[in-house]
Amino acid sequence: MARHLITSALPYINGIKHLGNMVGSMLPADVYSRYLRQRGHDVLYICATDEHGTPAELAAKERGLAVDEFCAQAHDAQKAVYDGFALAFDYFGRSSSAENRDITQHFARKLNENGFIEERAIRQVYSPADGRFLPDRYVEGTCPHCGYDKARGDQCENCTRVLDPTDLINPRSAISGSTDLEVRETKHLFLLQSKLQHEVEQWVARHEDDWPQLASSIARKWLNEGLHDRAITRDLDWGVPVPADTWPELAAEGKVFYVWFDAPIEYIGATKEWADQDPENRDWKSWWYDVDTEVRYTEFMAKDNVPFHTVMFPATELGVREPWKKVDYVKAFNWLTYYGGKFSTSQKRGVFTDQALDILPADYWRYFLIANAPESDDSSFTWEHFTATVNKDLADTLGNFVNRVLSFSRKRFGDEVPAGGEPGEAEAKLGEEIARLLAEYEAQMEALQFRKAAAALRALWSAGNSYLEEKAPWLEIKTDKDGAALTLRTAMNLIHLYAVVSEPFIPATAKTMREAFSLADDTATWATAAEAKSLSSVPVGTPFTVPPVLFAKLTDEDLENYKERFGGDEG
Ligand code: 2FM
Ligand code: ZN
Repeated sequence: MARHLITSALPYINGIKHLGNMVGSMLPADVYSRYLRQRGHDVLYICATDEHGTPAELAAKERGLAVDEFCAQAHDAQKAVYDGFALAFDYFGRSSSAENRDITQHFARKLNENGFIEERAIRQVYSPADGRFLPDRYVEGTCPHCGYDKARGDQCENCTRVLDPTDLINPRSAISGSTDLEVRETKHLFLLQSKLQHEVEQWVARHEDDWPQLASSIARKWLNEGLHDRAITRDLDWGVPVPADTWPELAAEGKVFYVWFDAPIEYIGATKEWADQDPENRDWKSWWYDVDTEVRYTEFMAKDNVPFHTVMFPATELGVREPWKKVDYVKAFNWLTYYGGKFSTSQKRGVFTDQALDILPADYWRYFLIANAPESDDSSFTWEHFTATVNKDLADTLGNFVNRVLSFSRKRFGDEVPAGGEPGEAEAKLGEEIARLLAEYEAQMEALQFRKAAAALRALWSAGNSYLEEKAPWLEIKTDKDGAALTLRTAMNLIHLYAVVSEPFIPATAKTMREAFSLADDTATWATAAEAKSLSSVPVGTPFTVPPVLFAKLTDEDLENYKERFGGDEG
């Protein structure tokens, strides 16, 4: 038994996420956590909302709410969706917590003591009407390149060019609209990442061979371009305040840390939030501090987050000069596209996680998304692919098998697992095949190869169908009642095995399948190879019930409706 710390990239607070976010971070982390727990490991799966920064301030303003109130509501709204997806976090925290504030400030003080933080004066736009400095994206004006009149100071949304606020023609404050803007000098804290370049390089070199290529190649690219010192404070009302004991002047000016400085620290902060809920029994430091090889730490994220997790956060952790746990394995994902185009939160293109749950239960999505996770390349979501996969894999291969076996057995042999004859050649062959596929499934899960794991799970389900077709108990029963009972008993054992091993992918359905059998122990403890081979863990005489249809078949009409509601390939 090992100790596994698992985190998925913290979803930003400003809105409900789309399916692309889900498949690139939280969902695979949940599947992996569930699998490890079933295998008996000690798992801590931590996530949180990432709540600071300008997008949070802007989203709150748009809704006419104070930013703390907006974040509290938005956190609950996201949490409700993740509960709906059955994400079994050990804790889902908030980066605006007191715990994260304290640890972030501690990190900053230590970095400062160790010579990795410097105060530097920079020139920044100031708005006297608003009484504050304006972050780049709070300055709006006309783009000098394309003439778009709502370009932001960091980037023009129309021509995508990166801008500096001073490039804008007729600049105005995005807060008040005031055009009375000046450029003033102001001080900010800079993290001297350039001084840490060598150490980060050595650290990456020690780990990158273990990481998937997507993660190591991105880390290399950033290191090759050289680590630059960067400002880690901002002029915002909302964020972790710069500690007054160390930087009284900046604290008095109301400076807060940049959101990307405190967000990864919230992995630790949220673990402390978790422990603070039950301090007698939970020890957050035992997961994070001085646990070099004792804990295995796996992070899940989409590829745009990789530089922050493989280079910048490790640089911060190294510069603190304390033994904080660093990531062991970075599981990075490419993009899930919507009909080959971008899922977009701002343009409301694609399927959002709350809408998905309005349409169908979580297990449909969980299975489809993981079976098609954008691991080695981008992958495309289409309604055609989704409905075909649901119908074939979930409704036919798994659902139909379960219902057919249980209904037929009940009809012919009553409400208990029938006895029948001794297992023969077909059962021995099936047992071998199941044990082989289970080993393959385990190997792919251990390797965090989710698509391949899904394929192995699907193959396990298919093996049951082949067996049933081969034995055809509905014919067998006419000539060999005992033989038919043996076939059904074996198939019921397969159902129970599926119930256990499908749990990481489709937890609700797995539970329904397990609960079809009245067994004293209904936990989803993993099946051993011997159990898989012998297919006899559900004893003769075990009472069972026939569950309702596990997965509804989606019709052509459903498909047309989905495409009409969400847009199809025209977008
Ligand atoms: O890209 C994002 O949505 C960020 N909120 C991810 C943060 S991950 C971590 F570092 F906190
Ligand atoms: Zn432009």
